[in-house]
Amino acid sequence: MRKKIVAGNWKMNMDLAEGLKLASSIDKYFSENPSNKATVIVCTPFIHLAGAHEILKHGKIALGAQNCASEASGAFTGEISAWMVKSTGAEYVIIGHSERRSYYNEDDKTLNKKTLLAINSGLKVIFCCGEVLKEREEKKHFLIVKRQLEEGLFPLSVEQMDKIVIAYEPVWAIGTGLTASPDQAQEMHKYIRDMVKEKYGNECAKKLPVLYGGSCKPSNAAEIFSKPDVDGGLIGGAALNKEDFTAIVEAV
Ligand code: 13P
Repeated sequence: MRKKIVAGNWKMNMDLAEGLKLASSIDKYFSENPSNKATVIVCTPFIHLAGAHEILKHGKIALGAQNCASEASGAFTGEISAWMVKSTGAEYVIIGHSERRSYYNEDDKTLNKKTLLAINSGLKVIFCCGEVLKEREEKKHFLIVKRQLEEGLFPLSVEQMDKIVIAYEPVWAIGTGLTASPDQAQEMHKYIRDMVKEKYGNECAKKLPVLYGGSCKPSNAAEIFSKPDVDGGLIGGAALNKEDFTAIVEAV
């Protein structure tokens, strides 16, 4: 049985005090309601990581970043390396979010470099993939996700794949209020798992968590998460308040 995962992606929201307050309130909720069976992760902006780690370290919530540099260290002003992320106490990093791909021109090759650096630094990677609306309308969504995985992820060894969580996030569903239907999500998740099976074998595919992201809310999470190949969610807007985020975790 794969464990369910719910990860919050705070994106570029909240100042330090606001972020730490949210981390505390989520931590308090799960200490008082320890029955939840999912792995809960919060992926904060870099500036929150060390402080959030202090708050979360005795609890059950894991911490992650939303990006890391494509180089290990050195003269790269303004960048944050995977190793620096790891040194804050974070365990995860999101790589390949569609906002990074589109606004910062991160291509598959760069994302593969980042993924390898993250794994070599001891982090687990939430690797995002997904098509834009035009690609879905032109029925190219499988082809797009195939390319993103083949070039961004499949240079990894089977041992390295152990450190990977895949997040399927159709770009047309991110922050738009539109969600993929549970059947659309299941269809793509199964396709992803089948690709992984073909490349790495059944064992690897069976244990790989594949999360859905895109306008996940307390009202739709249970139905999406009930699909056999949907192992939880990567949550944007609804991760910014305790009530919605914890309700989504409870929907697992
Ligand atoms: P929303 O949940 O706000 O649609 O964002 C999804 C997302 O991009 C998570 O990484």
